[in-house]
Amino acid sequence: MGINADVLNIAQLTNANEIILNKLGPCDILINGAGGNHPKGTTTKEYFNEEVLDHKENLLTFFDLDAEGMEFVINLNFLGTILPTQIFAREMIGNKEGVILNISSMNAFTPLIKIPAYSGAKASINNFTQWLAVHISKVGIRVNAISTGFFLTGQNEKLLLNEDGSYTERAKKIFDHTPMGRFGKSEELIGTLLWLIDHNSTGFVNGLLFLSMGVFQNIQVFNYRENPK
Ligand SMILES: NC(=O)c1ccc[n+]([C@@H]2O[C@H](COP(=O)([O-])OP(=O)(O)OC[C@H]3O[C@@H](n4cnc5c(N)ncnc54)[C@H](O)[C@@H]3O)[C@@H](O)[C@H]2O)c1
Repeated sequence: MGINADVLNIAQLTNANEIILNKLGPCDILINGAGGNHPKGTTTKEYFNEEVLDHKENLLTFFDLDAEGMEFVINLNFLGTILPTQIFAREMIGNKEGVILNISSMNAFTPLIKIPAYSGAKASINNFTQWLAVHISKVGIRVNAISTGFFLTGQNEKLLLNEDGSYTERAKKIFDHTPMGRFGKSEELIGTLLWLIDHNSTGFVNGLLFLSMGVFQNIQVFNYRENPK
C-alpha cells in the first residue's frame, strides 16, 4: 500500500501515520529514503582557479552558490530524515524491536567535488544516525544507516547516460573508482536492508554507518539532480 507524504510536511506525515495506524497498526520499520541534490547547490567547475574567474558570467562558483538551493538540499536530506522519524518512531516505543534505517551516501565520508550541500547534508544524516542510536537506545529502537555508492536512478540518469544509452564521461569516471567497475543494482542492497532490519540477526547492531558498494577514496565525480521536484 502506497501513501503519499512530503517528508518536510508534518501535517502530511501525521496523516500518513494515521492511515497506517488504522490499516496496519504501529510502525515497526522506518526507512528514510527521500533525498536528492539541487543544481543551485552545485559548482559548475570541479576546481576554482583564475580561469573560472575569467568566464565567471557562465559559471556557478563556490562564491555564487545560492542559499535557497543549499537550503533545499539540507532540508530535504537532513530534516527530511528527522521529521518522519519524529512522527513514525513514536509508534515504536514499547515495541522493543523497532528499527530505523537512514539512507546516507559515500559522499558523507568522502565529499565529492562540486556538491558541497549534498555531501554536507548526507554527512549530517550519519551524524544524526549515531546521535539518535544513543538517544533512543533505552527504549529498544535501533538506528543504522546505509551509505551507498552509485546506482543509476531517476536523480542521476541524465548525467550518467547519453541520449544513445551509452555511458557519459562522468559515469566512466565513477566506474574507474568502483572496484566492481559498474553501478550497483537496487536489488543488491536488499540483503543489507533485510539484515539490518532483522532483530534476530542484528539486534546488537546500532549506530552503524554501513558503507555498501564501497568506492575508492578521493573519487573525482559529481552528482546532482537537474530537475528537482
Ligand atoms: N543513486 C545513487 O547513486 C545514490 C547514492 C547514494 C545515496 N543515494 C540516496 O538514495 C536515496 C534514494 O535516491 P535514488 O537514487 O533512488 O533517487 P530517486 O530520485 O529515484 O529517489 C529519490 C526519492 O525521493 C523522493 N522525494 C524527493 N523529495 C521528497 C519529499 N520532499 N518528500 C517525499 N519524498 C521525496 C522522490 O519522489 C524519489 O522517489 C536518496 O536519499 C539519495 O540521496 C542515492
